[in-house]
Amino acid sequence: MKNILLILITFTYGITLSACEVNQYESDRASATSEVSEANIDSLVSLMTLDEKIGMIHASSSFTSGGVPRLGIPELVFSDGPHGVRHEHGRGWHAIEGYDDRSTYLPVGINLASTWNRDLGYQFGEVLGNEAKERGKNVLLGPGINIIRSPLNGRNFEYLSEDPYLTGEMAVGYVLGLQEQGIAACPKHYAANNQETDRHNIDVIISKRALHEIYFPAFRDVVVDGGAWSIMGAYNKINGQYTTHHEYLNNEILKGKWGFDGVVVSDWASVKDTREALIYGTDIEMGTELLRDFDNPVYEEFYMANPAKEMIESGEIDEKYVDDKVRRILRLMYRSTALTDHGPGQRNVEEHQQVALEVAREGIVLLKNDGLLPLAKNEIETLAVIGHNATRKYAERGGSSQVPALYEITPLEGIENLMGDDVEVIYAEGYEPYYDESLFADITGDAASQSRENVREVELARSANEQLMQEAIELAELADAVIFVGGWIKGHEGMPWGEGTYDAEARDKLNLKLIFGQEELIQRINEANDNTAIVLMGGSNVEMENWLPDSRAYLHAWYPGMEGGTAIAEILFGEVNPSGKLPMTFSNAHTDYPSHSIGEFPGDGTVDYAEDIYVGYRYFDTHDRDIFFPFGFGLSYTTIEFSDMDLTVNDDVVLVQSTITNTGDREGAEVVQVYVHHKDPSVDRPIRELKGFEKVHLDAGESVTVEIELDEMAFSYFHPDQLEWVMEPGEYQIQVGNSSRDIKLTQNVEL
Ligand code: GLC
Repeated sequence: MKNILLILITFTYGITLSACEVNQYESDRASATSEVSEANIDSLVSLMTLDEKIGMIHASSSFTSGGVPRLGIPELVFSDGPHGVRHEHGRGWHAIEGYDDRSTYLPVGINLASTWNRDLGYQFGEVLGNEAKERGKNVLLGPGINIIRSPLNGRNFEYLSEDPYLTGEMAVGYVLGLQEQGIAACPKHYAANNQETDRHNIDVIISKRALHEIYFPAFRDVVVDGGAWSIMGAYNKINGQYTTHHEYLNNEILKGKWGFDGVVVSDWASVKDTREALIYGTDIEMGTELLRDFDNPVYEEFYMANPAKEMIESGEIDEKYVDDKVRRILRLMYRSTALTDHGPGQRNVEEHQQVALEVAREGIVLLKNDGLLPLAKNEIETLAVIGHNATRKYAERGGSSQVPALYEITPLEGIENLMGDDVEVIYAEGYEPYYDESLFADITGDAASQSRENVREVELARSANEQLMQEAIELAELADAVIFVGGWIKGHEGMPWGEGTYDAEARDKLNLKLIFGQEELIQRINEANDNTAIVLMGGSNVEMENWLPDSRAYLHAWYPGMEGGTAIAEILFGEVNPSGKLPMTFSNAHTDYPSHSIGEFPGDGTVDYAEDIYVGYRYFDTHDRDIFFPFGFGLSYTTIEFSDMDLTVNDDVVLVQSTITNTGDREGAEVVQVYVHHKDPSVDRPIRELKGFEKVHLDAGESVTVEIELDEMAFSYFHPDQLEWVMEPGEYQIQVGNSSRDIKLTQNVEL
């Protein structure tokens, strides 16, 4: 009886008040400022029935969560993805044929990170926000900011770096740019989601120090410095508990220590327990139908639907947990386009495509050049372009980050556009991709069993590639110069989503060996033509020892977006001076990496991050391991000199000054990197850690003094036993350079 009476009162009260509430609401909506009106939120929550609240904390369709029509509260509308607004799915799981959803396809995350240009990070987010707004979205499911722990992770292309500081700095700009447009960022996947193998169940065994020094910092940065309005949980567990409803990650750290007042959105189907989701910080459950019958979803059966309602009604769980979730969701709605007018968006405008071009220009990395580059058009009559990746389009592949690109300039098109009528461009595919089951990890990370049918398919493909290789070599022999475009492929033609992919969501690679016979092809092209430049695509490196030594030039182009072909051509022919710097260490084989040589990858049920904080250059430099190209490395067509380092200490802030001079004969850019080395730490620490950087563009002969501030955190470490950040007095060496292994200037400071 009590309950019914209560509902009646609420209902009656609700009806009368709601009318004026909605009117007042309307006026609020029109004049809503960035200041979220908490009072309004509280009054709305007080008007809601339990059913209405429950309806808001789980999905109402593939990419929406519930609203409350009675109170004028709309559904919340989500969209992928990190480098472009995804196809329109409507309320189901299939892209709507013929829908007007073509959009700007930006370069992938690791390409953005390779620019080391915070302003481009902001512009990247701004473009995404503007296009998401035009498409009627409220939350953009990006940036992907998981640390690149192993080069085998299929989603490395979507992420930013092996280093937490670079990841955080590039992500903050992206979040600010996105949210300035009124679109909520949703940095993902919180946390330690660093592999695709068995992603729904794998349990990451990891120390608190590694969490706080490596896997948390970028999430802290986007919350504290970026003001992210939402965060996406991850599929995996950490130390036995699912991250999406993890007491330590969500309640103690994210919402506690970092003071996050936004919404924790699950990954799609990452909620696995009603009680935990209710009390350990999940605010919206999305995508559970993906692990059930996703063509006939029953949203009432979601973990945070009827099962949650029963727990509240039985008194097992206090309704205040639900109220807090609803409050957070309404706060996001007020801040975003859901309930506040942020003006019209735009899509496919030239300014957006220009940002895509700039990010490609500044993110493509020149790794080797003996002087072959830049190529001179006037010295070439016939140019051979060889390689499947010279004509392959990537935008619509790779998993949830797929983008319905308005167009995509391939490397061949970019080169042909630049050559015009001055140079004859001839093309040979050189190799055809094929699906070799034995190249993929199965759910336990071992080589997948290869069916007899696939063995035959692979044999046929290989013999066909012999023919393609022969044709390519003949072309190389008669051309004045050759550009080879190969590497990984994002997704694999003809294969169902998530299958047969060499660089994409839901799969990891088994190794870094160049695929489809490219190694032999490169060797034979080098033999056939001495003026050969190598361009590789991919979300990470490939094994290089068998082809790099005999190659004169190598450009790594990641997946450079819709203007990628233009940027590749401009760099090869010197229209643009490359300035990209590696955001991850390029060693040779995956077994060189500490996630494989010390830790586990991909594990089996559990995966032990035994390498702890020694990820990337923190490992390779500390143990002085041989690698091909270090973190922060990238060549230029000009020469830059570093000089006049000066340190100024005010309290515990160290100002690092250095002078950078372009001593070459053309404009160029340099990334001044500042690393901190603790001379005699009381705990084990990496030999150096990146704690500051600035990218400077300089005309020929120009000098500039760069100032970089290091605060107390730049010298601190997370104490493995005290479990808190410690800034230890002592002697530190400040290192200024243009890669983790090319330190130009150093000075010591006593703190
Ligand atoms: C996917 C991805 C996540 C994406 C979401 C919605 O499984 O893990 O990054 O945003 O589901 O597509």
